[in-house]
Amino acid sequence: MSESTIIVIFGASGDLTRRKLIPALYSLYLKKRMPDTFAIVGISRSPLSDDDFRAQVESGVQNFAASKYDPARWAEFAPRITYRPADLGSVEGMRQLDDYLQQLEGDNGSCNRLYYLAIAPRLYEIAINNLGAANMISEDHGWRHVVIEKPFGHNLASAEQLNTAIHKVLHESQIYRIDHYLGKETVQNLLVFRFANALFEPVWNRNYIDHVQITAAEKVDVGHRAGYYDGIGVVRDMMQNHMMQLLTLVAMEPPASFEANALRNEKVKVLSAIQPITPETAVQHTVRGQYRGYRNAEGVVPNSETATYAAIRFYIDNWRWQGVPFYLRSGKALAEKSSEITIFFKRPPHIMFPLPADTQLAANFLSICVQPDEGIHFSFQAKVPDTAAEMRSVDMTFHYNDTFGPTAIPEAYERLLFDALKGDASLFTRGDAIELSWRLIDPILAAWESEAAPPLATYEPGSWGPKEADDFISHDGFMWTQGCCDE
Ligand code: BG6
Repeated sequence: MSESTIIVIFGASGDLTRRKLIPALYSLYLKKRMPDTFAIVGISRSPLSDDDFRAQVESGVQNFAASKYDPARWAEFAPRITYRPADLGSVEGMRQLDDYLQQLEGDNGSCNRLYYLAIAPRLYEIAINNLGAANMISEDHGWRHVVIEKPFGHNLASAEQLNTAIHKVLHESQIYRIDHYLGKETVQNLLVFRFANALFEPVWNRNYIDHVQITAAEKVDVGHRAGYYDGIGVVRDMMQNHMMQLLTLVAMEPPASFEANALRNEKVKVLSAIQPITPETAVQHTVRGQYRGYRNAEGVVPNSETATYAAIRFYIDNWRWQGVPFYLRSGKALAEKSSEITIFFKRPPHIMFPLPADTQLAANFLSICVQPDEGIHFSFQAKVPDTAAEMRSVDMTFHYNDTFGPTAIPEAYERLLFDALKGDASLFTRGDAIELSWRLIDPILAAWESEAAPPLATYEPGSWGPKEADDFISHDGFMWTQGCCDE
């Protein structure tokens, strides 16, 4: 019996399809990782011919995956792509689409379908309802997986409502909530680093770790996305999803297996153990900022209070992490693009060297550079040659580029699409994790939107954020890292 798979992309005329989805599928094709028989169907409301759509996505591959573009290989791949204008807001529109998909599938064998919702979030519910109403979710003739882009809700209530609505149509096992950070090679490597090496796990706890910093700094400002971003802000855009996911990977207990639910159960345990920040304590645990000039961007309301920068301190109430602060920091228009996780270890308990009495040895730290210079650095003390006991911090490094070559790291979407096609949900967020994350974020946003909101600090574009954020961490006796992965 033959098996074929159709990938149906809703929202196909949008940027995501051109920039990420088709380049990722094309790359999987080049690597021979696509199903033996497959078709890609682009759906949106615009009237486009198959050829127009193919030209549109071909230019996407040329621009965003230029090194992979090969006209001969593209010519083999392109005929598998077709386009249909359809209204996902109507059951009738979906039925017509289903007829078309059945024609493509023919009537022999099993036909799987991956529905990718690259559409406006307000349409997720209606699209899934209509897929259900048009009987396009039933798995009688092959699996049906639905990939849902972020944002998944804009607060806890809306995320719960969306989960409830989609669970009426889909089993959790059919839902793939995407968080592209989980598709990043360096993020996946966190699990290997922690659990495939015997060295780190014994010190990965409150006895040895002083504090943890997780940074996602962006050099770009909001640019042409201001219309989307204003009112959303950095906490909803970056923290509720990407950064909370990073936090769970750093803090989770070793899962018993690499199976999706085993991993996701451990993440959920971490989220459940995070000490909630309340509207009353938000001033103490958070800093919000906005870069100078943000309010002049097109699409931003006058006097917008939207935060383009945030720093948050969380504590995790469990045996492993009690009392260890986890700092999350993200912002637009900062000095550099740099996403990294830095684990600061405690200083040695006793100094036996002949050093002045008030000497403090520098603490060891481990930096996991998520991007752009993917790698891991470990900073430790070394004796300066030809001195009695002078010391300096030196670095042990691993760079993906040097070890695996400059083209080894695939785009995050490639891994995620591959997994969604294979039915491996390990790198996708389960419904309960999304809700728990919103449960932690909601009170912070409520505090920021209330009368008693902490002041909105300002910062210069190209800086490392507001002075208030430096004061916030230095009050605890620490300093922010500044792109240390580049060193
Ligand atoms: C997206 C946010 O989810 O992640 C964007 O909506 C942000 O605002 C982007 O720029 C950052 O992703 P990356 O992979 O460039 O760190």
